[in-house]
Amino acid sequence: MTINKQVLMKTRPVGMPKLTDFQIIESKMPEVRHGEVLIKILWLSLDPYMRGRMSKAKSYATSLNEGDVIVGGAVGKVINSQTHEYKEGDIVEGFTLGWQEYAIVTPASIRKINPDLAPIQTAVGVLGMPGMTAFFGLLHIGKPIPGDTVVVSAASGAVGQLVGQIAKIGGCHVVGIAGGKEKCDYLTNTLKFDAAIDYKNENIDEMLDKYCPNGVNVYFDNVGGRITDSVINKLANYARVAVCGVISQYNLTAPEPGLRTHRAMLTNQATTEGFLVFQFAQKYHIGLERMAKWIKEGKIIYKEDVVEGLEKAPEAFIGLMNGKNFGKLLVKVSD
Ligand SMILES: NC(=O)c1ccc[n+]([C@@H]2O[C@H](COP(=O)([O-])OP(=O)(O)OC[C@H]3O[C@@H](n4cnc5c(N)ncnc54)[C@H](OP(=O)(O)O)[C@@H]3O)[C@@H](O)[C@H]2O)c1
Repeated sequence: MTINKQVLMKTRPVGMPKLTDFQIIESKMPEVRHGEVLIKILWLSLDPYMRGRMSKAKSYATSLNEGDVIVGGAVGKVINSQTHEYKEGDIVEGFTLGWQEYAIVTPASIRKINPDLAPIQTAVGVLGMPGMTAFFGLLHIGKPIPGDTVVVSAASGAVGQLVGQIAKIGGCHVVGIAGGKEKCDYLTNTLKFDAAIDYKNENIDEMLDKYCPNGVNVYFDNVGGRITDSVINKLANYARVAVCGVISQYNLTAPEPGLRTHRAMLTNQATTEGFLVFQFAQKYHIGLERMAKWIKEGKIIYKEDVVEGLEKAPEAFIGLMNGKNFGKLLVKVSD
C-alpha cells in the first residue's frame, strides 16, 4: 500500500497566505485503473498564478476548495501505467499534478519529457510555461524591434530573466526592475541587461528618466501597481504594454487606487494588451525549439531557486509572494 504525503489548502488565505492556511497529511493511494497513470512527483513548480487558485475571485485557473490538495505544475516519473501512451520510467510534466508525492492522472493531462534535452525540471521553467510566457509574451504582444527600449518588471524571476535576455538577443536596450541590489547586480553583470532599477531602494521615476531617455517602447509588466504607474508615465510613442501579471495585487484585500492611464495611452498612441500563455499553446513547439537552441548556444541562461522537500512548499510559496525567490522557484520532492 503506497502512502501519499499531500499538502492541502486548509483554509482559504485572506491577504498574504500564512503557514496555517496549509496542512500536510498522509493518505493511502487508490489502485491505478485502466486508462490511468501513476506518477511519482520529482519537482514542483511554484508559480504566482497559484495564488489565484486559492482565491474565489474570477481567474483563469479553477479555484480550490478548502481541504483540496494544492494544484500546480510538476515533473514526475511514471511508476505504473495502465495506458498505451506511457510506460514505466517515462518522465512527464503536468499542469495539475499538485503538491503531493504521487498523482494518478489520465494521459490527456500530461506530456512526455525528453530527459536528454535538458535537466528535467526545465520542463516547468525555461522549457515550460514560464519560458513560453516570456517568449510569446515579448515577441507577439510586446513586438520589440531592434533599438527599442524594453523595460521588464520582476526582472530576475522565472519569466522576467528570460524576457530581458530575449530582448537583448533582439538588439534592444533592456532595463530590468527588481527588488534589491543582489538581484539588480545579477541582471546587469550576469544577464547583461543594460541597466537595472532596484525599486525597493531607488527612485523609480528618476531611474527611468536616466536609463530610458527616449521613453519606453515595450513594457513587459509582471507586477502592476506603483511600478507600472511609473513606467506608463514614461511610454514612448506607439509603445506596447504586455500585461503578463500583477503580482503586487494578488494579495490585496481591497483594490489599490492607481494611475488613470488613458491619457498616457492616448497621447502616446500606445497599446495595452493582456495575455495568457495558453493562447499560444498551438505554437509552443516553435518557442521550445528556439529556447532550447538559444540555451545550447549560450545565448540564454536561466537561474533556478531550489527548495528541498515537499513540506517546504508552503513556506516557499509565501516567499514567492514576498520576493524571497531568486530565479525560477522549484521544490525538489524526490530524486
Ligand atoms: N500571463 C500569463 O500567462 C503568465 C504566465 C506566467 C506568469 N505570469 C505572471 O508573471 C509574473 C511573474 O511570474 P514568475 O513565475 O516569473 O514569478 P517570479 O518573478 O519568479 O517571482 C515573483 C517575483 O515577483 C516580485 N514581486 C512580488 N511581490 C511584488 C510586489 N508587491 N511588487 C513588485 N514585485 C513583486 C518578486 O521579485 P522582486 O524581488 O524583484 O520584487 C518575486 O520574486 C507573475 O505576475 C505571474 O502571475 C503570467
